[in-house]
Amino acid sequence: MKSLRHVGLGVAAAVASFLVAPLLLRQAKPPAPLGPLDLPEGAIDPAVWGRKFPFQFDAYKRPAAEEPRWREKRGHAYSLKDRDESERDDDPRWIRVLAGRPKERPLPGGCLECHAAGGFRGLDSYFVARLRVDRPVACIDCHDPKTLQLRLTRPAFSDTSKATPQQMRAWVCSQCHVEYYLDPGTRLVMRPWSKGLRVEQIEAYYDEIRFSDWKHSETGAAVLKAQHPQFEMWNQGIHARSGVACADCHMPYLRQGALRLSDHQARSPLDNLERACLPCHAFPPEEMKARIRIIQDRTAALLSRALDALLALLDEIKAARASGVAEQRLEAALHFQRRAQWRLDFVHADRSKGFHAPQEAARILSEAIDYARQGQLAAARNRGQASMR
Ligand code: HEC
Ligand code: HEC
Ligand code: HEC
Ligand code: HEC
Ligand code: HEC
Repeated sequence: MKSLRHVGLGVAAAVASFLVAPLLLRQAKPPAPLGPLDLPEGAIDPAVWGRKFPFQFDAYKRPAAEEPRWREKRGHAYSLKDRDESERDDDPRWIRVLAGRPKERPLPGGCLECHAAGGFRGLDSYFVARLRVDRPVACIDCHDPKTLQLRLTRPAFSDTSKATPQQMRAWVCSQCHVEYYLDPGTRLVMRPWSKGLRVEQIEAYYDEIRFSDWKHSETGAAVLKAQHPQFEMWNQGIHARSGVACADCHMPYLRQGALRLSDHQARSPLDNLERACLPCHAFPPEEMKARIRIIQDRTAALLSRALDALLALLDEIKAARASGVAEQRLEAALHFQRRAQWRLDFVHADRSKGFHAPQEAARILSEAIDYARQGQLAAARNRGQASMR
């Protein structure tokens, strides 16, 4: 087990709103005293914890779907098994957006930093590393085995030593539910946060280190892949500003006799609206569901337009090249493709379909549409000139 590691990245300002937000609502008190836990540091087997805390253990084990297929959400107890299986499919338009994206082969051991209990950090390949880890995300990834306090064992976006209990209810998730990239040399898992957590700040960092995930096979553009930036998106929304943490919606409190416990089946709040939303919003579950759906439908409509705009850009770049436009004259269009694609994917990969920060999602998608159309114009202008020659 690694020692506690804090990486001060100087982006505290980006989350200052959360730091100072009034934590009016349901100020989290430390969990009800349940006696010292006193497990050793290497206690990764959740069943051992489960002997003392069967309630949390049973919920943690419960899959979100009984006979899940790959695409379905299963939760933390499946984070390792699912990784040994396959890739996901999607809207057919994504196949073109992601054209030529290579499979990670050999799989880097770094994948197990977030997919295995206790994490893994090192240079070994996935298959070598996999022999050393045999448990999915578990109790030890969020809790100190001695005291049961929430703690972080993976690199954090900021110094967490002064974090309040309520902040820890989000920061503990920021160990894994964040954008990352693989260092091209070592293939170690890295966080791109030194300029901040917003989509354009991460992009600026990637531009500075000249990073790209792969070369798009239709156009040759050096493009980026976004991975589950849930923490980054949530951080831009009204809930984060109001001090509402991930656990409030995804692991809501419930009463068990006199005790106030947390639902350890981390899952979609849509399956649990009564507990996830009603403590703060005085509306029936159907109304809360409708509010989620309205945000998600609007985001989906904008995302669909952004996808169409990006595909139009791909078509235009190909047409320009076919009509003899010189490569260096296509540079601007390729750069716009990188920018549009990054934004589109950032919203998509958050997977809340806009809910974590509706206005931010709309802002990002509008920029994606604008960049895609600017790129299309740039390529078309060159094509026009090429055909006049
Ligand atoms: C920084 C932590 C982290 C690292 C490193 C990481 N993952 Fe994940 N991965 C997650 C989290 C969190 C989820 C679930 C959240 C989601 O899917 O939105 C996930 C989900 C997935 C999924 C299912 C959802 C999807 O997006 O298709 C696949 C496949 C996956 N990871 C593969 C990998 C592979 C392969 C690697 C190594 C190259 C890797 N992961 C490295 C945190 C990580
Ligand atoms: C050690 C890494 C890690 C930590 C810490 C972590 N998660 Fe996850 N989480 C994952 C991975 C990996 C998955 C994907 C599991 C799978 O394969 O389906 C996941 C899945 C989920 C899912 C279900 C959606 C899905 O794709 O399966 C939710 C909801 C979720 N996590 C919420 C949270 C919340 C809330 C926190 C903080 C309290 C948190 N997670 C902390 C790694 C982590
Ligand atoms: C105010 C409530 C709320 C907060 C706070 C919140 N989420 Fe969510 N989250 C949602 C909703 C609603 C969805 C959409 C679920 C759906 O469509 O099934 C979602 C979707 C997700 C998903 C995809 C889950 C799935 O089943 O597809 C993950 C993973 C996730 N959130 C993680 C997080 C993390 C990590 C944080 C904190 C950094 C966070 N959420 C904060 C409400 C919240
Ligand atoms: C993804 C992170 C995560 C994982 C994994 C996890 N917990 Fe928790 N746990 C939490 C959070 C968040 C709380 C709420 C803490 C708070 O409000 O201060 C919590 C609270 C608790 C509490 C205090 C009572 C309660 O329910 O609020 C117990 C006991 C507990 N967890 C046991 C476990 C056990 C046992 C496991 C493994 C089977 C486990 N936890 C796995 C995040 C996690
Ligand atoms: C811990 C309290 C808390 C929980 C839990 C919570 N919310 Fe909120 N929600 C708030 C606060 C505070 C605001 C900001 C409203 C204000 O300040 O008037 C807000 C705002 C909203 C908004 C307006 C968003 C915007 O961008 O303007 C929606 C929609 C919403 N919540 C839906 C939900 C849903 C759906 C859930 C359950 C999945 C949920 N909330 C859970 C406290 C909470």
